[in-house]
Amino acid sequence: MKPVLPMNICYGGDWNPDQWPAQTVDEDIQLMKEAGVNLVTLGVFSWAKLEPEPGVYDFEWLREIMDKCAAAGIYVDLATGTASPPAWMAKRHPESLPVTKEGVRLAFGSRQQYCPSSAVYKKHSRELAARLAAEFSDHPALALWHVNNEYACHVHGCYCDACEHEFQEWLAEKYENIEALNHAWNTYFWAQIYSDFSEISLPRLAPTFHNSAQMLDHARFVDAQLLGLFDAEASELRAASDIPVTTNFLGDFPHTNGREWAKHVDIVSDDSYPDPAIPGSAHEVAFTADLMRGYKGGAPFLLMEQTTAAVQWRPQNSPKRPGQYSLWSLSRVAHGADGIMQFQWRQSPGGAEMMHSGMVAHSGKKSRWWPEVGELGKQLESIAPVLGGRIDARVCVVADWDSMIARSVTPGPNTVPAAFTAARKWHRTLWEKNIATDIVGIEDDLSKYSLVIVPEIFIDYPEFATRLEEAVARGAHVLVTAPTGVVTPDLRAVTGGYLGSLSELLGVCVTDHSVNSPGAWSFESDLDPRVDRITRSVEVPSAAEYRDLEVRSPLLQRALDQIGSPRPTPRGGVWGEYVMAVKEADEFTDPMWLSDEVEVLAQFGYESDLGGWPAITRRKVGSGSAWYVATNLDAVGRDALIRVLSAYARLDISGATLPDGIERVTRGLVTFYLNHSDKAVQLAGVTGYDLISKATATGHAVVAPRSAMAIVAKPVS
Ligand code: GLA
Ligand code: ZN
Repeated sequence: MKPVLPMNICYGGDWNPDQWPAQTVDEDIQLMKEAGVNLVTLGVFSWAKLEPEPGVYDFEWLREIMDKCAAAGIYVDLATGTASPPAWMAKRHPESLPVTKEGVRLAFGSRQQYCPSSAVYKKHSRELAARLAAEFSDHPALALWHVNNEYACHVHGCYCDACEHEFQEWLAEKYENIEALNHAWNTYFWAQIYSDFSEISLPRLAPTFHNSAQMLDHARFVDAQLLGLFDAEASELRAASDIPVTTNFLGDFPHTNGREWAKHVDIVSDDSYPDPAIPGSAHEVAFTADLMRGYKGGAPFLLMEQTTAAVQWRPQNSPKRPGQYSLWSLSRVAHGADGIMQFQWRQSPGGAEMMHSGMVAHSGKKSRWWPEVGELGKQLESIAPVLGGRIDARVCVVADWDSMIARSVTPGPNTVPAAFTAARKWHRTLWEKNIATDIVGIEDDLSKYSLVIVPEIFIDYPEFATRLEEAVARGAHVLVTAPTGVVTPDLRAVTGGYLGSLSELLGVCVTDHSVNSPGAWSFESDLDPRVDRITRSVEVPSAAEYRDLEVRSPLLQRALDQIGSPRPTPRGGVWGEYVMAVKEADEFTDPMWLSDEVEVLAQFGYESDLGGWPAITRRKVGSGSAWYVATNLDAVGRDALIRVLSAYARLDISGATLPDGIERVTRGLVTFYLNHSDKAVQLAGVTGYDLISKATATGHAVVAPRSAMAIVAKPVS
């Protein structure tokens, strides 16, 4: 993919000049130059102005602005504006408005109010994209096409009759005959057998649980439906020129399958709003950036939206702390971004987003944030040598959208929200140690990794299992965590022992799940242990939030000793499993007798009914190994395990000993030291030239609170 701006890191934001009098445009451009802005996103919400009446277009005002951008040397990311159809569409075609599960038609007056199968929406959105392409493809300012905006951010699934019909067609195409669907969905239970695709409903409000396979297929359908809208617009844009096309993702937002979408865009772009009031937000920046970078095999991406200071959509909206806007932006670049864009350039004068920060605040240049806006512009300019640089990771964490959805729609053993929780946690453990990590999908090439982490991949994929076997055979180390391999891609149960096709590699299978339910019971209810003599004697170990693990491996013990004294006990979470060696899996036998190949590194503690059962196992295969963790390990357990695995996988964990708060990331020729703490941090052994302070480091460096250094071997001309 050719870069959006060949020589510079992109910097700018959504610019919605349609909100202000025309003279503000010149002032804006002047301020953009001051701030170092080189790219603006135009027209994201301009449909009503571009097509004021059906089929009547007005591009003149936009052309004037784009001409001014070109004259000022500012590039344009031109949006197709199709995320918010005009009032006339809602008025004349009420069927274009989306319907909720409950059957309520949503009203005009907000945004994203379109039904994805609405013929009128499809026609007009595609036509608008085609007209914009015809008008502006040759415009000198145009650098990038921006289709729609954050697909599914508010409306994930429309439940109208037209969508139901599209769902039926999608299913008919997927399954070809109704018997195949009946089998996949196991409709033989609860009398759900269908004799024709036309009998199938959308998962509208129903008496109780929907068929979970239907829910999974519905999520896939909604995703495909929206991707179809993207493709329709993108094909119009691509027919007119070879300007790259993007649409802005929302991190690991679960309602679209980002990895699939990434195949359809020319450059990945992402919107990200970590909450400054949460300490984990420093990691959120790294995690979402690594996720985006992984979508196209390590290729750079754009941060399409973040806020300068605060958002307005949380109940409480804290601003970033001094320096944090720059710090997080630089972290984003360190992890693979080639552009840092904000929502939005100038803070709205009214409407729902009036209180959302902009690069230019309501108070204009008097704002406390304005100097930081300019400072980041300069910093991005000076770290341009990072462009073209890649991150060399030897570890990957696998994230799989279908598995995440499958687990979230499956009632029991514990129903969890659709989120990459486990992938995030393992990624964070690695990040805390400054171990460069890629986030990959189940189809990605694993050949460069010496450690592969497979966290909670609910679906059993035989081909993926084969590729993991190949990785281990060439000496890699694979760590699989529970629950993995529980269902087939159709969402039918894996039978004969969970872990399915991974059992052979791991040497174990899972016979049963045993999940705790903390909070399910409390004596605050109408029960009093002083008088309720039977109830008070009923023991409920499954009320515990954690389960202590007993470590059997000396290596793991040593790793725990390093954490401090007294040695912390690793703990599992609510998820627990009965694990057996595959060789003995035909019948229920003594759990502690695993095959010669499979060692038990830790077992569940005896305070729970799983006491003595394996919690962490390992099977060595040549110089590689396959590890299984039968619970959701806590931070201490993950830390110790990663230390042990790093030794086997020969990973550089020198970054783990850097002072508190320091994130170190190397991208290409540049090594970033990002200080997330409130204290100035002294760093020994840093030599080279800091692109940001433009000073040479000779073995000793000080990084100010919430600031960064970007070190290269020598000054770059
Ligand atoms: C999203 C949208 C923007 C804006 C921001 C506010 O990212 O794409 O239009 O509403 O949220 O944070
Ligand atoms: Zn619909």
